[in-house]
Amino acid sequence: MSPKAEIPRALEEIRDLIEAGRPIIYVHTPEEERISSLLREAAEKLFDTAPPVFSWRETEGLRGADGATLVTADAGPRAALDYVVEHAGPAVFHLQDLHEAMHSSDVVRRLRDAYEHCVGKNIFIFISSPVAYVPDELARDLVLIDLPLPDFDELKAFTQSEAAALAESGVKLDTDESTLNQIGRALQGLTLNESRHALRRAASANPEIGLDSLPYLLEEKHLLVKKKTGVIEYIANSIPLEDIGGAPILKKWLLERRRLFEMGDELSREIVPKGILLMGISGCGKSLAVKSIGSCFHLPLYRIDMIEIFSGRHGNPEATFVAACKTMEEMAPAVLWFDEIEMGVTSKNDDAAGTLGRIFAFFLTWMQEKSRGLFVAATANRIDLLPAEMIRKGRFDEVFFVDLPNEEERMEICKIHLEKRGIDPDPLEIDRLRQFTKGWTGAEVEQCVVGALTTARLAERDITSDDLLNQTGKIVPLSQTMREQVEHIRAWALDRAIRTAPRSRGIT
Ligand SMILES: Nc1ncnc2c1ncn2[C@@H]1O[C@H](COP(=O)(O)OP(=O)(O)OP(=O)(O)O)[C@@H](O)[C@H]1O
Ligand SMILES: [Mg+2]
Repeated sequence: MSPKAEIPRALEEIRDLIEAGRPIIYVHTPEEERISSLLREAAEKLFDTAPPVFSWRETEGLRGADGATLVTADAGPRAALDYVVEHAGPAVFHLQDLHEAMHSSDVVRRLRDAYEHCVGKNIFIFISSPVAYVPDELARDLVLIDLPLPDFDELKAFTQSEAAALAESGVKLDTDESTLNQIGRALQGLTLNESRHALRRAASANPEIGLDSLPYLLEEKHLLVKKKTGVIEYIANSIPLEDIGGAPILKKWLLERRRLFEMGDELSREIVPKGILLMGISGCGKSLAVKSIGSCFHLPLYRIDMIEIFSGRHGNPEATFVAACKTMEEMAPAVLWFDEIEMGVTSKNDDAAGTLGRIFAFFLTWMQEKSRGLFVAATANRIDLLPAEMIRKGRFDEVFFVDLPNEEERMEICKIHLEKRGIDPDPLEIDRLRQFTKGWTGAEVEQCVVGALTTARLAERDITSDDLLNQTGKIVPLSQTMREQVEHIRAWALDRAIRTAPRSRGIT
């Protein structure tokens, strides 16, 4: 076998299996063209003398490396396997979509014969299919892998090779090194087919693909990722940190981490920020805070929708969750938001509880192993429902409790919401609201501003201090209507999480 050179990750995985001497490898992938070209590349790069690559598909039969038909399509898969069993000398056989035929005992038996024949002889059978199917009889002989999505190097090389194809249709692709790097990064998370599609879409907007095309590529990527996984959504409207009222401790923490993030590759793995868990009372700004992390770190923000995952609309929740996490790893550096991660914990249904347990177990391991540069922000309203391991140090860098805002914070929130609506807060004497907004959430403060503005607009005049004050009588805060639950969450969080702002124990 050739000495180890820099090769894309997918090829590396194939190399490991070849080196381990596994004669039958089942590659689960929808990317048929890509696996074909990876196998040709493997034959050339991973062996001292490149073995021939044969390929079989039901409609074409078995063909040699030169394209000549060796076994006709009519003869069926069994005849193709007979050919393999009689073949002498190193070879790579690529059997496409054999999964249907593998339901026949005849084919399964012949595959087992092929295993005996190929082992130790540098003959490798790669079965590729978008459907993963391993009959019990073959479970020991066959190794099943999921073809990883193309990594940055593969995407960059692909973009370069696409430049020639695009040139034929009059599209010019800038192959300058730094442009290729940026295009490669923008395409991360897509398959090669999807990347090709994204490049063509960008070309239809501007036939000169270069740095100006990046927004198109990213837009296309976000659409494709959403369509493909059904559960990952790109959040476009990021929020500046200044739009969050209060939470000074959280803001300081984020600004410090931003510096670490910017240092990126120079830092050791443990120091690169992994993520935070934000828990707290509904309406106090958890979602708002997450939306500000992307802009604070200058990274794109994606959300994984736990409700969609559990809906079953995208297939088995566990598999959907794992696939979504894997896809996101390809898109690092990015911020990944799991909103209401405790979704479903309270489910009475045993089946759902079991699934959730497995999802959490996967999530916890994944949090430690995931690629660097992917920052996870998880939010939960009922952190006490989460497994203890989730909160333990090491998984998240920090667990924050987003409490009811204190008096100062409420005034800040009020100002922010007035200013956002183009109103100067100074003449409105908002200090008058201090004592009347005790125990209010940020959302309730915002509601007060909106209510006062509505009154003023209906009366066709400017908002006054009294409008604001009058609203306070109309709002019954959550901390009153759900007093026990709010107290329970606060008491629970007191010793277990860091507060986003310094504060005394009671409601202030
Ligand atoms: N600290 C704050 N600063 C400014 N606005 C706030 C703040 N807290 C809440 N708000 C306002 O209230 C709205 C609701 O807050 P948000 O959705 O972030 O709450 P949440 O904690 O995620 O609640 P839930 O648990 O119900 O999802 C925000 O969109 C924002 O307008
Ligand atoms: Mg929220």
